[in-house]
Amino acid sequence: MKVIAGNWKMNGTTTGLKDMISALQNVDTENKIILCVPYTMLGLDSGRAFLGAQDVSTHDHGAYTGEVSASMIADTGAKYVIVGHSERRQYHSETNDVVRQKVSAALSFGLTPIICVGETMEEKRAGKTMEIIESGVRESIPNDIDKDIIVAYEPRWAIGAGLTPTTEEITEAHTLIANTLSSMGLSGTPILYGASVKDSNAAEIMSIPNVDGVLVGGASLKPDDFIPIITSVK
Ligand code: PGA
Repeated sequence: MKVIAGNWKMNGTTTGLKDMISALQNVDTENKIILCVPYTMLGLDSGRAFLGAQDVSTHDHGAYTGEVSASMIADTGAKYVIVGHSERRQYHSETNDVVRQKVSAALSFGLTPIICVGETMEEKRAGKTMEIIESGVRESIPNDIDKDIIVAYEPRWAIGAGLTPTTEEITEAHTLIANTLSSMGLSGTPILYGASVKDSNAAEIMSIPNVDGVLVGGASLKPDDFIPIITSVK
């Protein structure tokens, strides 16, 4: 079983999500399907898919205009939340420290965080890929957690760019993440790959060791693009 998660970013409508949910009903798969959608679309009956948010506040409630807390996300019936996506890190200056607080908030209300780590092109060129990935994993995950989490490796230079790392690069990154998680007592944590996943590369990427699924941006918006990714692997 693989985890196939969609990240709609700031796209879509409630009608579009209902269409996706009904299109997913008849798909022949045992893979776990997660749709991380804008807050405004949470709360729908999601059928065989699970819904998730794309960010969460570090705070539980109070005078934080515009923020949405983990308890509020859980109250909609959503089960997942993406934390530390590269666009949050880039446009909202989220650091590993902030991400770790958000992960704690999510876990305390029963949400499973999908924690994103990955290097920028600048970091890649400077030969820092492994360092950034390892510190991302170590610093974005609180100590001594006993609940499920998901980690996503998203090379930031490849997101939305139609670029993907080589099989060797993905293998190296996922092996490092698996080893780091195991040294933290978190072996068995699913590790997703994300960035420019599409129908034509999904099966090959998911055949790489330690790739337990994918986090899909652009190609998760339409059933015709997303369903072939889901059915590309058993
Ligand atoms: P992409 O986005 O599939 O459009 O590259 C992936 C992501 O940002 O999660």
